[in-house]
Amino acid sequence: MDASDIEKDLSKIHYTEDQILAKLRELAGRIERDYEGKDLLMVGVLRGAVMVMADLARSFGRHVEMDWMAISSYGSGTKSSGVVRIQKDLDTDITNRHVLIVEDIIDTGLTLSWLVSNLESRKPASLELCTAFVKPDAAKMAVPVKYVGLELPDEFVVGYGLDYAEKYRNLRCVATLAPHVYS
Ligand code: XMP
Ligand code: MG
Repeated sequence: MDASDIEKDLSKIHYTEDQILAKLRELAGRIERDYEGKDLLMVGVLRGAVMVMADLARSFGRHVEMDWMAISSYGSGTKSSGVVRIQKDLDTDITNRHVLIVEDIIDTGLTLSWLVSNLESRKPASLELCTAFVKPDAAKMAVPVKYVGLELPDEFVVGYGLDYAEKYRNLRCVATLAPHVYS
């Protein structure tokens, strides 16, 4: 779906598909260099990270394994609470593996902090984080994120995997919704 297909629903486009892809290619280049000579397992967080994972992985000129976790964080409305539940666990044993968590967006970082301590307890050889987008609150996070993509304002956004009530995930750009969509 292009922005032009749902023009009336959007109040601001933050990043176009081309801008997102350019940033992900840059991150993929860094990741490729950092993991040279090592097997890499990328762990995507469902469902938002599907697009990020697809574009990152395809930017590599090397092999990479992919696995997925589905977690839900409960919170009021559009803010997460840090209370997390695993809905689908990994199929892969990550003991002694080089693991890179792939996220769509980090807001408070509560979801990710929980995920990091959960995966750390499985004793991977290494564990790093990659996110396509960050919001300003992420700066206060306890967990360092090695590969950070594009910055967003403290607004609820949709597109490129991010949803509002399971819609807009297939929008190519990342945008803020117009107020009428919520009413
Ligand atoms: P925290 O606050 O735990 O939140 O870092 C991370 C998770 O919350 C979701 N999230 C969003 N989803 N538009 C969305 O569609 C947004 O603007 C947004 N901000 C946070 C997202 O699932 C992420 O994994
Ligand atoms: Mg999500």
